[in-house]
Amino acid sequence: MKLYLVSAIFLLSYLMLSCSGLGTKEQCETPKPLNPNGDSELALLMREMFDEGMRMREQILNGEKPKVLKKFEAIHTAQATEPEKANSDAFKVMADVYLASLKALKNASEEERYDRYQSVVQSCMSCHQAMCPGPMVRIKKMYLPEKNDQ
Ligand code: HEC
Repeated sequence: MKLYLVSAIFLLSYLMLSCSGLGTKEQCETPKPLNPNGDSELALLMREMFDEGMRMREQILNGEKPKVLKKFEAIHTAQATEPEKANSDAFKVMADVYLASLKALKNASEEERYDRYQSVVQSCMSCHQAMCPGPMVRIKKMYLPEKNDQ
């Protein structure tokens, strides 16, 4: 009886470990040096940026005005897994490009909406191309379909 319990626990923890090992999130190429099990503020913020992007995409596809959140200005202050990345000039410049593209989307007219939204996704892609290619496959899904397809 006891042995059964022990092996059940063993099996369970093995499953949990192997699942977290496979991982559902895409990190940058380098392993996380600071907190191997935790997620950085920046990583959490990025996931939210993705979810919000997909939400805005849906709104635009439905012909609605996308609601643009201001909270992503935290991209400049959020603690990154590799702080030297977020402290680089390249990161700061590309973060500003991203924030500017969000602002442009917020102020976009109905005709401008499509292009402005695509520019936001492009700004994600540029920074990731430069310093964190892992999540690019996922970010690509944020693009709106070609206008001709609609
Ligand atoms: C200025 C550079 C920059 C911009 C712009 C940027 N990212 Fe990131 N992104 C990063 C860095 C650096 C990380 C690694 C964060 C960490 O691990 O601390 C990251 C991580 C991620 C992750 C993985 C998070 C995880 O689960 O570990 C996703 C997904 C992501 N970004 C999506 C996006 C999306 C969507 C956008 C645009 C709306 C975007 N990023 C814009 C630099 C950027």
